[in-house]
Amino acid sequence: MAIYGSTAAGITLWLAMMQVARPQSVPADTDTPPFSTLYKWKLVDYEFPSARLRRHAINTGKFVTQNVLPLGLEVWGSRVFVTVPSWRRGVPATLATVPRAGGLASPPLRPYPDWSYHRAFSDGNNCSGLISVFRVNADPCGRLWVLDSGQIDSQDRPQQICPPSIVVFDLHTDTLIARYPIPDKYVLQDCLYANIIVDTRKEDCSDLHVYVADTWRFGLLVFRESDESFWRFTNPLFYPDPLASNFTLHGTNFQWADGIFGLALTPLDKNDDRLLFFHSLASYREFYVPTSVLRDESRVNDSATQFNLVGESRGLYGQSSASAIDNRGVMFYGLVSRDSIGCWDSKKPYLKKTLGVVAMDSDTLVFPNDIKIDQEGDQSVWVISNRLPMFQAGTLSPNEFNYRIMYASAEEAVRGTVCDPDSPVPRSNPILQRGWMPLT
Ligand SMILES: *[C@@H]1O[C@H](CO)[C@@H](O)[C@H](O)[C@H]1NC(C)=O
Ligand SMILES: *[C@@H]1O[C@H](CO)[C@@H](O)[C@H](O)[C@H]1NC(C)=O
Ligand SMILES: *[C@@H]1O[C@H](CO)[C@@H](O)[C@H](O)[C@H]1NC(C)=O
Repeated sequence: MAIYGSTAAGITLWLAMMQVARPQSVPADTDTPPFSTLYKWKLVDYEFPSARLRRHAINTGKFVTQNVLPLGLEVWGSRVFVTVPSWRRGVPATLATVPRAGGLASPPLRPYPDWSYHRAFSDGNNCSGLISVFRVNADPCGRLWVLDSGQIDSQDRPQQICPPSIVVFDLHTDTLIARYPIPDKYVLQDCLYANIIVDTRKEDCSDLHVYVADTWRFGLLVFRESDESFWRFTNPLFYPDPLASNFTLHGTNFQWADGIFGLALTPLDKNDDRLLFFHSLASYREFYVPTSVLRDESRVNDSATQFNLVGESRGLYGQSSASAIDNRGVMFYGLVSRDSIGCWDSKKPYLKKTLGVVAMDSDTLVFPNDIKIDQEGDQSVWVISNRLPMFQAGTLSPNEFNYRIMYASAEEAVRGTVCDPDSPVPRSNPILQRGWMPLT
């Protein structure tokens, strides 16, 4: 019986592995090791229904290619999801996919789930479609959680045409499942819900919660799917650090007082809890809160001490955009002022000497904007870099590759570095460990 059982388990495991084994993607280049660049674009185009409709969209200002900025990404099944917020006029579709397989250096974006959801072909003010998607996150049950700001022309002449909303799609059928407008009382004046992360531990996702960062009014919104309720935390740790709000990269200087933005969840710990690590974009510091606190709406006024600092500062130019943690507990994060992807093994203290750099490139990694880790058995880390400050300053060159999607094996990316879970904790000065809370 025991032997039979283990053989059956072995076969099941083997079948599971067969199912997740994917053909290798064909990258556009391998200039940024350990990353492969799946795609790179100078300017982005779309798969229009016809050449005539494409010309029409251009002639009517519904498609202005230099205003199309890929911002966020997610990877699920055979597709890579790309978000394109409607910051400037002429974004024909705000959520799109490209094949995961690669093979073409600069493919056109395919609107998701189809053109009818997007402004180029709808009446333009259609709140049953998608308006301006910032970030997306796929849950383990095959659903895509989409954060739509509802605002267009944010950079030129902001117009809030629909409420900011969380929109959910079934990735198996590419159909809309639900739409949850964020209640008015949590939509503060000039707020910007800019990042979203899904937290579920049950196989059927029945315990699913969503955390959404308000980067401009410094809040953390929680959504519980089971009863469709929202609540919102505030904490001084969500604020920007004024000294880190002065950015200089590649000769462009700008002030961004952006608060809480980066969100990353640890795997389940031995208390069956997960930590949410978070940081402001304008900050050199990392913070955390147990999700057991976030998931309890009675704690909104009674949890200030549960939000805490992790370890040391990343130091000057240590501003970080998005972050993500793999199933071994290794965090990857974009270092936007250093053209780099950083790493940290979350089982080690957070110290300058325990923070590693996975890749650095002053051409291909200018503003690594979003980072995701996929759900494959052998996980990959995915990065989109997009030269956002140059886009905003209007100095992007249409003759250079400005936008890239890259991937690397999460395990191989940190092998032999200080972020490798198999590498020992470096000996350290105990004073520097003050403020670090052991995770295990
Ligand atoms: C609004 O969007 C929905 C969902 O995509 C679509 O079915 C409908 O045709 C659109 N309505 C208009 C008036 O564009
Ligand atoms: C901001 O950064 C620029 C360029 O590094 C520097 O010249 C300037 O003094 C900084 N300003 C402040 C307030 O730190
Ligand atoms: C938290 O405080 C606000 C403002 O005082 C109040 O309206 C709200 O009901 C409180 N929430 C809880 C769960 O105690």
